[in-house]
Amino acid sequence: EKGTYPHFMLKEIDEQPIVMRKIMKEYQNDNNDLKLDATIRQAMKAADRIYIIAAGTSYHAGLVGKEFIEKLAKIPVEVHVASEFSYNMPLLSEKPLFVFISQSGETADSRAVLVKIKEMGHPALTITNVPGSTLSREADYTLHLHAGPEIAVASTKAYTAQIAVLAILAVDTARAKGIELDFDPMQELAIVANAMEVLTAQKETIEQITRNYLATTRNAFFIGRSTDFNVSLEGALKLKEISYIQAEGFAGGELKHGTIALIEKGTPVIALATQENVNYSIRGNVQEVVARGANAMVISMKGLEQDDDAFVLPQVHELLTPLVSVVPLQLLAYYAALHRDCDVDKPRNLAKSVTVE
Ligand code: M6R
Repeated sequence: EKGTYPHFMLKEIDEQPIVMRKIMKEYQNDNNDLKLDATIRQAMKAADRIYIIAAGTSYHAGLVGKEFIEKLAKIPVEVHVASEFSYNMPLLSEKPLFVFISQSGETADSRAVLVKIKEMGHPALTITNVPGSTLSREADYTLHLHAGPEIAVASTKAYTAQIAVLAILAVDTARAKGIELDFDPMQELAIVANAMEVLTAQKETIEQITRNYLATTRNAFFIGRSTDFNVSLEGALKLKEISYIQAEGFAGGELKHGTIALIEKGTPVIALATQENVNYSIRGNVQEVVARGANAMVISMKGLEQDDDAFVLPQVHELLTPLVSVVPLQLLAYYAALHRDCDVDKPRNLAKSVTVE
């Protein structure tokens, strides 16, 4: 039930800190060790390459998951859009593990891949919010998101839950492989949960930013580099899906290879700057679009901020920045849709779970 909330989406955005804490509880045992099924640990350890298969927002979470698994557990990862995978199946490694990410566990495009790779005899792990779902039942292993029912068509808390669970999975695998890490996921997720609370309390600020940048526009661009690029894809999807503003997320470095031609006077450009190693270059991109008339704003992270940034995120571990940078983007999309009188929870032409290929 929505309770006092006008929309499920807003309620689900607000639930994100609670979901983070729930995941921390569910994936920790009494000795403060990570609690994951030993068979999953074995399957991860045995894999020479991981193939993440997903659609939409879950695909975007997969892009972030690839970073965790490669950087922490040192296993190569490919992330594929489910609907494309079957036509252009890459050459598979000798010991692949397939990881399906799906909020609903019912996405037909992902299921088609699952059926195919099971026929080929490969192992599969499903990460889902619905443990009894088709993708969960048909895979060998399941990890539960514990996000509670997500009703709004636009996925919010499932995205952050997927990223948190992927971080835990990556650390668990790293530890199982004897890799020493100076990254404690539970400690860092606790910081994230607090930061999310700070962010969800800043709705008025985000609503005002939405008025300043997205009030009458027909299009908008999200830019970022490195992990911020992955989040900009999600920011663009959220905005187009519920407000019908044409939005594109792209890598800051790609601007000069084409997209900058679209910048004209007043074009909104939302830049993410949460990563120290690319802070200088993304700000260079912002200057380039401003010089061509863009209505640009920077969402930065504490410690990297500059005076005229539109919004500064509380500081979290640099691997986990997507968990916080996505929150203002979810809220931007929400308010843009609200101001345009769109049906926030049930956008046109879309279904919550897409059960046809
Ligand atoms: O249930 P799934 O995670 O498999 O759904 C995948 C996509 O259909 C879904 O994420 C979709 O892109 C959302 N409506 C985005 O907000």
